[in-house]
Amino acid sequence: MIPIIKPAVFEEEAQAAAEAVRSGWLAQGPRVAAFEAELAGAVEAPEGVALSSCTTALHLALAAHGIGPGDEVIVPSLSFIATTNAVAHCGATPVFADVEDAVPNLSAATVAPHIGARTRAVIVAHQVGFPADLGPLQALCDAHGLLLLEDAACAIGSTYQGRRIGAVAAGHPGGALVAWSFHPRKVLTTGEGGALTLADAALAARLRTLRQHAMSVNDQQRHAIAGLLLPSYPEVGWNYRMTDVQAAIGRVQLGRLDAIVARRRELAARYGEQLLAATQSAGITLPVDPPWGTTNHQSYVVRVAGGASRRDAVLDALLRGGIGARPGIMAAHQEPAWAALPRGPLPATEAWAAESIALPLFHTMQEEEQARVVASLLAALSETTVDRRRP
Ligand SMILES: Cc1ncc(COP(=O)(O)O)c(C=O)c1O
Repeated sequence: MIPIIKPAVFEEEAQAAAEAVRSGWLAQGPRVAAFEAELAGAVEAPEGVALSSCTTALHLALAAHGIGPGDEVIVPSLSFIATTNAVAHCGATPVFADVEDAVPNLSAATVAPHIGARTRAVIVAHQVGFPADLGPLQALCDAHGLLLLEDAACAIGSTYQGRRIGAVAAGHPGGALVAWSFHPRKVLTTGEGGALTLADAALAARLRTLRQHAMSVNDQQRHAIAGLLLPSYPEVGWNYRMTDVQAAIGRVQLGRLDAIVARRRELAARYGEQLLAATQSAGITLPVDPPWGTTNHQSYVVRVAGGASRRDAVLDALLRGGIGARPGIMAAHQEPAWAALPRGPLPATEAWAAESIALPLFHTMQEEEQARVVASLLAALSETTVDRRRP
């Protein structure tokens, strides 16, 4: 089986993890602090806050802004369900907005109709690594006094207007508030893990206390002082801590970021060359950079014209042939957990969810493996027909 992904982790990561274990300092220690600083540097942001996952990062960011019951947060349904669930975790109501047909992301045009008196924030996901068009979204949020929270679970190393996702938005004094995932399916992994990056140092300090039950004294301070330092708990927080073992792995991974993204883009370009002819003959659409940025190709997602039945037939054929492809992007509103939420029509979301397939793409992928994926996909496409009556 050619897997959908193999994390790009090697002996150096194993050694770093072992050193963290041997150090005896396993949580909230020096490696977590170093990882935070290095992550911030890598994504061109002033502050980094290491957390247990992207889900907890999204929740913490909303909670720290006082978003709760009675508030609405506009989200894409077209995202891993965590994006929507994070809103529910703070008691607020998600409001689904549609994505663009050309790029699987929210835009200012798709978000604007959903802004109402109860709207407090917008979560924009840079889906499967495609950067969203942040400028118009930020302007829209500024005009309505809304928080723009970026779900960059998939987007480390992607760029917008020549700068990395995570860079403080040009001309925007508040800076970007961005949530990251380091799950093994992501470009960069710590096993499980997440983070927030941001510009506001005071907010970063508050996030660091909230991730540790709002404890007034952190472990580093306690270790630095010889005498008694009694903690207090001025508000309710959470345990959203990253361990030093994870951070140690993450620091090595950060050093590989440029190489991993370059390799993924190289593999994606090769897929593009080999599949180009099929875009006409077999009704597939290939992923390309949008005009405003570059994708890290966290996933290589193609769209198969002909609706879910053809997509599922193609996927089934690939899996039977030993190709670990997956449905591309899910839609939260189609899941039982969120099906009853009132919403407007989401035609582009439903088309992406029905037609998308993620093909295997991983750092150590060999040319022969890629050739096998291409051959299997072309064979599966030719065995299934496009229903030309569909628009
Ligand atoms: C867009 C998006 N947001 C959030 C998440 C959740 O990330 P984590 O598993 O780190 O909580 C994922 C994970 O797949 C994701 O793809």
